[in-house]
Amino acid sequence: TGFVGMALSYGLSLNFAFVVSIEMQCKLANQIISVERVNQYMDIQSEAAEVVEENRPLSDWPQNGNVDIRDLKIRYRKDAPLVLHGITCRLEGGDKIGIVGRTGSGKTTLIGALFRLVEPAEGRIIIDSVDISTIGLHDLRSHLGIIPQDPTLFQGTVRYNLDPLGKFSDQQIWEVRCTHLCCFFSSYTMIR
Ligand SMILES: Nc1ncnc2c1ncn2[C@@H]1O[C@H](COP(=O)(O)OP(=O)(O)OP(=O)(O)O)[C@@H](O)[C@H]1O
Ligand SMILES: [Mg+2]
Repeated sequence: TGFVGMALSYGLSLNFAFVVSIEMQCKLANQIISVERVNQYMDIQSEAAEVVEENRPLSDWPQNGNVDIRDLKIRYRKDAPLVLHGITCRLEGGDKIGIVGRTGSGKTTLIGALFRLVEPAEGRIIIDSVDISTIGLHDLRSHLGIIPQDPTLFQGTVRYNLDPLGKFSDQQIWEVRCTHLCCFFSSYTMIR
């Protein structure tokens, strides 16, 4: 009976050792995967230049907002099929345009193309006579605005949410006069 007792006692502690050992193995596997990911990310081709010095748009570009899309073809990967098959259209500045289509038809892709999230396989987008593929990504993206469907507020003040990069003075922000915003806030003495 002494032998059985000893076997049971060792057996039970073995159970615990198994749990710890499997936990350790999983942790190790996860950490090795992290290294693998970093290795993988190091080989990702980087995006185009932030700023192309010899070709910078004017500070007030786009003046009108005429968007001229010419035979735009987009695919997500070299060997993948085309998502946009040659779109040609002209959007006049100031117009309100709705883009409709079934799910997966490429609406988001088209908007992404304006910001060059994916580079076109063929074709061009010209905004107020600037071919957007010729300017730097920072210049392009900082001159266009997007209002997402779902409102997002960052943690912080209202002022920070209106101007997260701190590029405008308080005076300029007041001048924008978003509907109702001024009436709402002028009852408070400070917008900070
Ligand atoms: N990052 C991506 N990598 C590869 N293929 C993608 C990627 N994003 C979208 N696609 C493919 O491109 C096609 C168009 O997708 P897109 O998201 O532009 O459609 P959508 O019209 O915005 O759809 P939804 O109405 O669902 O938002 C789909 O076939 C989709 O599978
Ligand atoms: Mg979409």
